[in-house]
Amino acid sequence: MTFISRIDEKHINKDEIKKQAEILKEGKTVIFPTETVYGLGANALDENAVSKIYEAKGRPSDNPLIVHIYDKKQVNDLVKDINENAQIIMNKFWPGPITIILKKKDIVPMRTSGGLDTVAIRMPSNPIAKALLEEVKLPIAAPSANISGRPSPTRGKHVYEEMNNRVDGIILGGDCTFGLESTVLDLTNDIPTILRPGSVTKEDLENAIGQVNIDPALEKKEDNIKAKAPGMKYKHYSPNADVYIVSGDIDNVVKKVNELSYDGAKKGLKCAVMCLEENNNKYKCDTIVLGRNLEEVASNLFNALITADENEYNIVYTEEFPNFGVGRAIMNRLLKSAGYKIIKV
Ligand code: TXA
Ligand code: MG
Repeated sequence: MTFISRIDEKHINKDEIKKQAEILKEGKTVIFPTETVYGLGANALDENAVSKIYEAKGRPSDNPLIVHIYDKKQVNDLVKDINENAQIIMNKFWPGPITIILKKKDIVPMRTSGGLDTVAIRMPSNPIAKALLEEVKLPIAAPSANISGRPSPTRGKHVYEEMNNRVDGIILGGDCTFGLESTVLDLTNDIPTILRPGSVTKEDLENAIGQVNIDPALEKKEDNIKAKAPGMKYKHYSPNADVYIVSGDIDNVVKKVNELSYDGAKKGLKCAVMCLEENNNKYKCDTIVLGRNLEEVASNLFNALITADENEYNIVYTEEFPNFGVGRAIMNRLLKSAGYKIIKV
């Protein structure tokens, strides 16, 4: 049985927060909203509790977890050394959607760090997440609250449908504002490296700390295709529908999608295209409008992929977005959802 709480982030019900915090203190699992995506939390310092996260998600246990805190002082307990870049990032972007990686202290179990000697830490800004973390007073490991491989849930409804009865508690707290997971920044080397793009962009980070690299594995599509091969563990953000990115001039994209969806329909395949609102009326097939700008696209993307499954689409085409700023995070998730399938027109 899962204990469900519905909490409005503008009027936080302290009693419900207390009940969910108790569940976490007992070494059990609670799903809670953050400003990025819903997280599936457990006591980061308790190996048994952390094992329950992997179990609920069906996640390979060598994939490290992000540890969530409510007070910057907690970082001292978790890492060996807070370097200057870490200090700047924490002051400038926390609470908020960026995760930093530093060398861990022994108190952080290997189960939490996926066997690495580093730990990923983030201080979320969502008021419900903050209230829960402050009440429980423990660092909470929390990956996105999806079954491994599926799109991360950003809407309470999807969390409930996918995770009810797989965890001990769920806090339903409305929609996640950013909609894509936090930027992950490795600060253990001389030059900080982005391991996962998010809404705190490379440009934002370079303004704060100077040169920042992007993990080459993110940009090299060929290598990623190879990395996918060893098993399902590399599958990410995949809806049931087959996703294709259609890349090129918008007029050519529209023409191609209209042709492909017409051919698909003849074969009995249900097709849709994910698009910007300004292009909605250009398509002859079903459309899933992602928004008017990149921020809205980021916020709606995972919801759109899950909704596409609810509507039983077989094929989802998507427009391409510019690969800079927030667009880089959007394209990273889209490429994974599409299994790197791109139709160039
Ligand atoms: O926005 C978010 O970050 C959400 C919310 C719930 O906070 N959490 C999230 O966690 O997306 P998860 O587990 O789905 O993604 C964590 C990412 C993974 O790609 C993992 O491999 C990487 O961070 N990661 C965690 N610890 C790491 C470490 N020590 N070294 C390298 N990568 C690490
Ligand atoms: Mg995830």
